[in-house]
Amino acid sequence: MTGAAGFIGSTLSEALLARGDEVVGLDNFNDYYSPARKRANVAPLLAHPRFRLIEGDFSDAAIAQDGVAWKPDAIAHIGAMGSVRYSVDNPALFVRANIVGTAHLLEAGRKAGVPHFIFASTSSVYGQTDKIPFVETDPTDRPLAPYPASKKAGEVMGHAYHNMHGMSFTALRFFNVYGPKGRPDMMPYIVTDSLVRGKEFTLFDAGSMRRDWTFVGDIIEGVIAAIDRPLGYEIINLGRGEPIDMNEFVRIAEQITGKSAIIRAAPAPPSEPKVTFAKVDKARRLLGYNPRVSVREGLGRFWEWYQKEAMAPPALG
Ligand SMILES: NC(=O)c1ccc[n+]([C@@H]2O[C@H](COP(=O)([O-])OP(=O)(O)OC[C@H]3O[C@@H](n4cnc5c(N)ncnc54)[C@H](O)[C@@H]3O)[C@@H](O)[C@H]2O)c1
Repeated sequence: MTGAAGFIGSTLSEALLARGDEVVGLDNFNDYYSPARKRANVAPLLAHPRFRLIEGDFSDAAIAQDGVAWKPDAIAHIGAMGSVRYSVDNPALFVRANIVGTAHLLEAGRKAGVPHFIFASTSSVYGQTDKIPFVETDPTDRPLAPYPASKKAGEVMGHAYHNMHGMSFTALRFFNVYGPKGRPDMMPYIVTDSLVRGKEFTLFDAGSMRRDWTFVGDIIEGVIAAIDRPLGYEIINLGRGEPIDMNEFVRIAEQITGKSAIIRAAPAPPSEPKVTFAKVDKARRLLGYNPRVSVREGLGRFWEWYQKEAMAPPALG
């Protein structure tokens, strides 16, 4: 599992260990957001006898090979540089981590005979489109920023490996994932943290942008089902399928925290799609996926975690 110290990777590692799997995690603890938070994510895993951590950068071919030297049943490639906005000013970093890194992991997996590769892709490959909900067969060749471009490259490189070497490759397009251990650069954290601290935060396009917020527990169930089912080559949406606009999102956060938002209005940058909206029929059919957690319930669970782990000053991240 790459990205094992990150938000989704550490949550997935916990779930895999809990059902009896052995997990080797690979992460470079980069400082895009606080490495201390990633250390906190990984600390309970390190105490587990069936977890091992390799600290290193998978865009280094030798590190990618170390990660698969023990011949796992599957590679879950969850690690990445994951921010649309950060990619705008740092495109080469995203090419290196997300394209070169994925290529090294695919090649390392092939050499080690790993039969199955899971790739964390993103709803942002759909770009700016009026065709909703997003279906896996929709065009995805007009990315809005280097981040989705790099993820699209990973999806298609996976096809090359499936074609050349028969490796099973499943790309899962995650939609706006949130929940406990959530990333400090994403809106659920930013909004909550700003509400608690009485700070201003930026809301694009008067809060009209719609996002298909998907609780991390639902995502993890989808990823584990994908790990357990080699499917040849497939691309599958993992979302909730019920987008809400940002005004409603902020309203729910205000109700949960009991605080009022101080909003700075700004136009959305061209890297931001107006909407994300998953059609999840394929995931239901192929993976038995069934997202259950509403935004209100999921934000409530995030709030519980935030009060315990992130609220005390100085804030991590
Ligand atoms: N969170 C979301 O809403 C969301 C949505 C769509 C897709 N995704 C994808 O899901 C995956 C996990 O996202 P997350 O939200 O947990 O992000 P995260 O940043 O919390 O986790 C990513 C982890 O990968 C590690 N990493 C990055 N580059 C690395 C490298 N070169 N070598 C080794 N480790 C490296 C980071 O240190 C981090 O711990 C990513 O691939 C992301 O693109 C996330």
